Amino acid sequence: MRVRRLVIAYLGLLAASLTGCAGSGAGLDSNGRPIGSEGGGGTLTADFQSIQDNVFTPICSVCHAGGAAPQGLRLDAVNSYSMIVGVPSSEDPAVLRIKPGDPDHSYLIQKIEGHASVGAQMPFGGPALPAATIAVMRQWVTDGAQPAAVAAAPTGLSVVAAAPSTGEVVLAAPVQLILTFSAELDRASVAPSTLKLERIGSGGASEGVEIPVVVTVPPGNPSALLVTPREPLGDGRFRLTLLGRPGLADIGGRQLGGDADVTVTTFLVETAP
Ligand code: HEC
Repeated sequence: MRVRRLVIAYLGLLAASLTGCAGSGAGLDSNGRPIGSEGGGGTLTADFQSIQDNVFTPICSVCHAGGAAPQGLRLDAVNSYSMIVGVPSSEDPAVLRIKPGDPDHSYLIQKIEGHASVGAQMPFGGPALPAATIAVMRQWVTDGAQPAAVAAAPTGLSVVAAAPSTGEVVLAAPVQLILTFSAELDRASVAPSTLKLERIGSGGASEGVEIPVVVTVPPGNPSALLVTPREPLGDGRFRLTLLGRPGLADIGGRQLGGDADVTVTTFLVETAP
């Protein structure tokens, strides 16, 4: 029943945004200029924070958020950077969603320009983003697709976000799990033995069936970890745990969670209605 509700919520969002977009010219101000180009709001500039605040949050995350996000792509402020930079597209896994330095071969740019190999131009249902907005987003990619400036983590390394996140019900088995950390990871500390993905019983049984995974740090985003199951997940409840001793460390040598195991996410896959 939970699934049905989510599906309806998603369709509702879709309908609302389609009607909303049709009349409002999302992405343009009243003069047809890129949003945020005048007035009290921030100007759209070629940096991640500005693109998040002016494009991803107001326009894209209407659909691209939560467990029902199309193609598992979330563009809300917490998840977007780690889900796009250096991460393969789900529709065309040979192409990265954002390839730093190369807007032409960045799937997200292809999608907003309307010439990606699969599916429709984004925003889905239109209208297209103004050319000036697309130009600014291309510039950000050309400049290396840098993240927003963040203050250095004061204490040890920590997990900032996980997708799917704890308690989430996802309607399509995720092909990869994405973890975002508070600092750049020491690649030498990354190995399949630093974490454990398990299918667990619905009663929250502590013992699960371990699922083999491939673990990588995406080249363009050293603060993220991609966890790719070697076999399709199927329906069920899953738990991802980061193991202590020796655990993950950041480039400053700070360990994650000391010696203790840390459960980063527990989520449910329910594909059948
Ligand atoms: C009205 C809902 C909606 C909005 C708004 C929307 N999308 Fe999408 N998006 C979809 C759907 C549905 C798909 C999958 C079908 C398709 O590709 O045509 C998709 C697919 C994508 C994909 C492919 C993901 C992958 O990994 O292959 C990208 C990239 C994307 N959208 C980016 C964006 C961006 C950027 C925006 C904002 C400018 C946006 N979308 C706005 C519904 C939406």
